[in-house]
Amino acid sequence: MLKPQQTISRLRLSCDGLWNIKIDRENVGDVNGWSAGFAPDADVAVPGSWNEQLAEIGVMNYIGVAWYQTRVFVPTAFEGKRIVLRIGSADFSARVWINGKFLGSHEFGFLPFEFEVTDHVAVGKSALVVVRVSNELTDDTVPQGVTAENYIAENRVRDETFPPARFDFFPYGGIHRSVELYATPKEYIDDIDVQTNIVSASDGLVRAKIQLTCLDGATVGFRLESDAQNWTQEANVENGVAEASIAVNPCQFWSCEHPQLYLLTIQLRRDGELIDEYQLNVGIREVKVEGAKLLLNGKPVFLKGFGKHEDFPVLGKALSLPLLVKDFGLLRWINANSFRTSHYPYAEEVLDYADRKGILIIDEVADISRDFRYTSPKSLENHKAYLRELIARDKNHPCVIAWSLSNEPNYLAELEYHDGRGDAYWKELAQHARALDETRPITIPNLQRATINDPAFNYCDFISINRYYGWYENPGQMDVAGKRLSEELDAIYEKYQKPILVSEFGADTVAGLHSTTDQLFTEEYQVKFLETYCAVIASKPYTIGEHVWNFADFRTPQHHRRVVMNLKGVFTRTREPKRAAFFLKEHWAKSPVKSSVNGEAAVLAGAFEK
Ligand code: GCU
Repeated sequence: MLKPQQTISRLRLSCDGLWNIKIDRENVGDVNGWSAGFAPDADVAVPGSWNEQLAEIGVMNYIGVAWYQTRVFVPTAFEGKRIVLRIGSADFSARVWINGKFLGSHEFGFLPFEFEVTDHVAVGKSALVVVRVSNELTDDTVPQGVTAENYIAENRVRDETFPPARFDFFPYGGIHRSVELYATPKEYIDDIDVQTNIVSASDGLVRAKIQLTCLDGATVGFRLESDAQNWTQEANVENGVAEASIAVNPCQFWSCEHPQLYLLTIQLRRDGELIDEYQLNVGIREVKVEGAKLLLNGKPVFLKGFGKHEDFPVLGKALSLPLLVKDFGLLRWINANSFRTSHYPYAEEVLDYADRKGILIIDEVADISRDFRYTSPKSLENHKAYLRELIARDKNHPCVIAWSLSNEPNYLAELEYHDGRGDAYWKELAQHARALDETRPITIPNLQRATINDPAFNYCDFISINRYYGWYENPGQMDVAGKRLSEELDAIYEKYQKPILVSEFGADTVAGLHSTTDQLFTEEYQVKFLETYCAVIASKPYTIGEHVWNFADFRTPQHHRRVVMNLKGVFTRTREPKRAAFFLKEHWAKSPVKSSVNGEAAVLAGAFEK
C-alpha cells in the first residue's frame, strides 16, 4: 500500500486536529444512527489515544467503543480526481462513514486502511467523516484478547490486569496516526515493489515492478537518482504491470554507517502525456543469514539496540514527530544501530526516518503471548492477513531487515502448544511469510517458559530469545543469571545451529534509587544486569545481537507488579537517562565485537570461536 504523497499529479489534505468524540459504553451508536453525526461528549485530538486526554469523561481504563467525527472541506483542486480517505491506524478496529455512507471496516490495529470516496463527496463542499473505533479484543483477533473471566476460569486471579490484556503495554484506544484525504488521477500507480541486489563490490541492481490501474497502451518512465548520478528506463504497461531493472555503478550500498538513499521517480504516461507520478526512496542493500552470522551487504552485523514502544504521557500511543526525532537522537547518542518494533508495527514515519538514519528494524506483527488453547483456524487466517498487510506496507524500506511473526507465544506454557498445534501453526505462517517476502529473514522471540523445544524455533531463520534470569528468576543473583544464560545459549545453538539474538533482557529500575549491594530496582543493579548479559552475549560466536528491554519506561495495564509503568527503560518515560544509558553508550561505542564496521568484525568474531 503506497503512502499518500504530494506530487505533480497527486494532492493530500490533512484531517488531523481536534475531532469530536462520543463514548458508547452501551454500544447503542449504531441503532441511534451516530454514523450520520452525533452530539459529542468532548473534543479529542487526532492523532491521540482517548485514555489520558479526557479526564473529564473518565476513559483512562475504558475498553469499548468510541465514536469520532470531524468535518473536512473537499478542495476544488480535487475536481476530476480519484479521492481517497486514509486512516494511518485506529486501535484496534474501526468502521468508517462519510456523509452517512458506510465505507467499510478494518480489523487490525497499528496498520493503515483507506476507502475511495470520490462518489460520496462534492468538491468545494464539506464532508462529515465518522469513525467508530473499538479497543476490544477477542480470542480470534490479532492481538488475542483476554477477559477477567479467563483469569477466574484459569485460576489466575493474581495475574489479572486492569484493563485485562495478554500483553505488558497499556491497551490505549483511539485514532493513533494521521487521517487524510488524498487525490490521484483516475488512472494511477497502484503499487510498487522494489528489490535490490549487490552484484559486486561496486555494482548494485534495482528491480522495480509497478502495478497500475490501466491495462495497456501506456508507458512507465523510471528515473533513479542520487546527488551525482541518474539512470532512466522506459517500459510498456502490459496487463497492468510495468517493470524495470536498473544496474547502478558505482553503487553506494545502504548501511548503518552510510544510509545512502536513491530517489526513484515513477511516471505513468499515455501518448507522451504525464498521467501520474510517485516517488520512493530506495536503499540498495542485501540481508541474509549465513551460518552463525547475520550479514548486511555480505558483512557480519551485530544488532545493538532495544525493544521499544510507542508510548508517551498524554499522547498514549499517538504518533509524535518531536518524540520521533528525540528517540532517534538518543539512539545515535547511545551508539545503537537497531530496534524491534515491539510489539506491533510502528508508524510509517518511524520507518522512513530509520531509512534515512541507517537504523536497522525488526518489524513485528501485533501478536503477543498467543495462547493456543484459544487459537482457532480463524486466528491463523487473521494472523496471515495481518502479516500480508504489514509486508504490503513496509516491504520497500531498506531499514526493515527481518519480520517478527509474534512475541512470546505460549506465555502460560500450556501443554496444548507442544502437542503439534504450535508446530503446525508456525510452519504455515512461516511459509506464508516467505511466500510474501523471500528477501528477509523471519524470527519469533521466545519466552523461556516455552522452553528450548519451542516449535517456533524450527521455522525461524535466526532465533530470538527474551530472558530475565536475574529478574523474574534468580533475583539479585547475577552470577547465577549469567551462568544460566550462557548454558542455555549453548544448548539452543547446539540444538538448532541458528544464530541467536537476545531480543529482550532488562531490569525494572527506579531512576534515583541506588545501593552498594545487588539490589533490584536500583540503577546499579540495572547496570550490573546489562553488563552481565552483554559479556555473555559477546563471548558466543553465534550471537548476532543484543536488544535491551526497554528503550524507555512505558505504561502498562494495572497490576501489583507494575508501579503504573514497566520501569525497565534505560531512559525514563520522558527520556531522561538512567545510569545504564551511560554504560550502554560506552559499551556500544567500544564494543568492536561483531560490530557492523568493516572487515575487522570477521577477525574479532573469530576470536570467540571455541
Ligand atoms: C516479556 C515481554 C515484554 C514485557 C517484558 C517484561 O518478555 O515480551 O512485553 O514488557 O517481558 O516483563 O518486562
